[in-house]
Amino acid sequence: MRSFTYSGHAARVVFGAGTVAGLAAEVERLGRRRVLVVGSAGLAARAQEALGPLAVAGFTGVAQHTPVEVSERALAVAREHDADCVVSIGGGSATGLGKALAVRGGLVQVAVPTTYAGSEVTAVLGETAGGRKTTMSAPAVLPRTVIYDVELTLGLPVQVAVTSGVNALAHAVEALYSPDANPVTDAMAVEAVRSMAGALQRIVADPADLDARADALLAAWLAGTCLGTVRMGLHHKLCHVLGGSFGLPHAETHTVVLPHAMAYNAPAAEDAMRRIAGALGVADAPAGMADLVSGLGGPTSLRGLGLAASDLDRAAALAVAEPYPNPRETTEAGVSALLRDAWSGVRPAGPGDLTGQVVASFDKMPDRRTRQLLTDLVRHLHRFAVSNDLTQGEWERAIDFLTRTGQLSSATRQEFVLLSDTLGVSSMVDLLTNSRSPHATSSAVLGPFYVDGPPEVAHGTDISTGLPGTPLWTDVKITDLQGLPLPRVTVDVWQSNKDGFYDVQLPDLEGPVLRARLRTGDDGRVTFWSILPSAYPIPDDGPVGELLRAAGRHPFRAPHLHFLIDAPGHRRLVTQLFVSGGAYLDSDAVFGVKTDLVVDFAPQHGPTPDGRVVEGEWRLLEFTFRIAPEEAS
Ligand code: BEZ
Ligand code: FE
Repeated sequence: MRSFTYSGHAARVVFGAGTVAGLAAEVERLGRRRVLVVGSAGLAARAQEALGPLAVAGFTGVAQHTPVEVSERALAVAREHDADCVVSIGGGSATGLGKALAVRGGLVQVAVPTTYAGSEVTAVLGETAGGRKTTMSAPAVLPRTVIYDVELTLGLPVQVAVTSGVNALAHAVEALYSPDANPVTDAMAVEAVRSMAGALQRIVADPADLDARADALLAAWLAGTCLGTVRMGLHHKLCHVLGGSFGLPHAETHTVVLPHAMAYNAPAAEDAMRRIAGALGVADAPAGMADLVSGLGGPTSLRGLGLAASDLDRAAALAVAEPYPNPRETTEAGVSALLRDAWSGVRPAGPGDLTGQVVASFDKMPDRRTRQLLTDLVRHLHRFAVSNDLTQGEWERAIDFLTRTGQLSSATRQEFVLLSDTLGVSSMVDLLTNSRSPHATSSAVLGPFYVDGPPEVAHGTDISTGLPGTPLWTDVKITDLQGLPLPRVTVDVWQSNKDGFYDVQLPDLEGPVLRARLRTGDDGRVTFWSILPSAYPIPDDGPVGELLRAAGRHPFRAPHLHFLIDAPGHRRLVTQLFVSGGAYLDSDAVFGVKTDLVVDFAPQHGPTPDGRVVEGEWRLLEFTFRIAPEEAS
């Protein structure tokens, strides 16, 4: 199930052929009587004719990127004629001017779009002042009524239809991988891609095909609605930069950049690409988009649009300067490579296929679970490489690191486990296991110092064999989830000495020390003497230590006592009890601390539970472990 929020913008939409004839009725419906028409001369005349006496003035000086000076001039005309409504007719520039007048002059706005720009259904206004583009968003920006008249689009030259149509495709494409994507915009976007791609091919074949023009216009509305509802990504940022700072034409830039932006994002937006490829009827979405554009005769290179090669790096720097949502991280090097491809116009060949090939190579694996794990591992690794633009040198360093990690590992030194521990993977796996039995005592990582088959000792034994340290009396009980004591439970315990070393780390030591196996009696308890555990550093003389130092992390573990509890008919519990008030509880090097495992090792003086004579302070640890029953298999 997918949870989502959807904020739709309410505009009245009138769609059909010849609908511009209803313009006067739509203006009257809004209670307006004095209209300023903005648009190119020919289109403005059409609107004025449809409006009859409602049209009090016209403004035909529309310019790209909505320059503020132009808006101010148009506003002066509106004021001079006491206009209460603006009708914009034309492409995105006319719509933009209509929006600017609605915001600056408080005019009610009706849009009659004749291209596929889609801005007529968004509440965003982009303006330029002194060569800088700014955008604002406000409810007043949104036209109150949009009249789509398919007949007006018949006059759109094929080349403009193509570039404007690809601009609309870009809205749908980026909506599908937007962080705000939702099932509603997804459905509109997929339909927009499917419908627009087919319609453009039919328009190129027969510019007078009214049905194709209608399909394209409807797709443009759907795509524009996506644009007005969810945030766009890298592609739009690039087009914004190339248009705003390098003066490239809007729709043409969209047409050239889209396949390349898609290729860049494809590894991080597999699901969106699969849907787009499905809607286009191709195997690979970016390559399919490039083929569509070149098949339509659209522009395919930034060089062809007049961009200088020397501007590419600056454009890349501008495009990554501010954060914005994009499925794949935008690095300057990555975006610069993307722009170089777009500049020269090569057909993008995404790495998506390679992942697919590797994944397919596991198809015949008999064990389903292994196949699933391997497949997902490959997907994550490939995505990791791509989204970070991993270099050969970086990969070699990683291989070297792993090689040394393996070389250092032996029967008594497990550097790989240490790596897993310090990256939190061991604790993550542990959490996943433990979260399945919420009423049981939490588990914690096993660590590398457990030795199977420790010496069996009787209750009350001192497992420190007289080593220095504060004496610790441990009295723990093992129960089931209902609190019933469990007899005949094997309890393995192990801990470090006062200096933080385990016996296996001290080659001069004779035999096992500070580790033992005990068995619960009928009361479910075990008791033994040892010493208060102290904080200690995990081994940091190998690759893992390098990693910790590089990250500015310390290698210390909070003081703890290990337990491995095996009861017949119950799940094994591997855990640790942490000394409350001990050091590093909030920065344990292996992320092993859980609150329910932090317990009092209470300071005591005087008589001890078993009558042993202790001079000075000793500690008392009492705890009940609740363990879960074995899962029915
Ligand atoms: C330990 O507590 O023994 C331990 C756990 C993870 C890494 C190193 C040591
Ligand atoms: Fe430990």
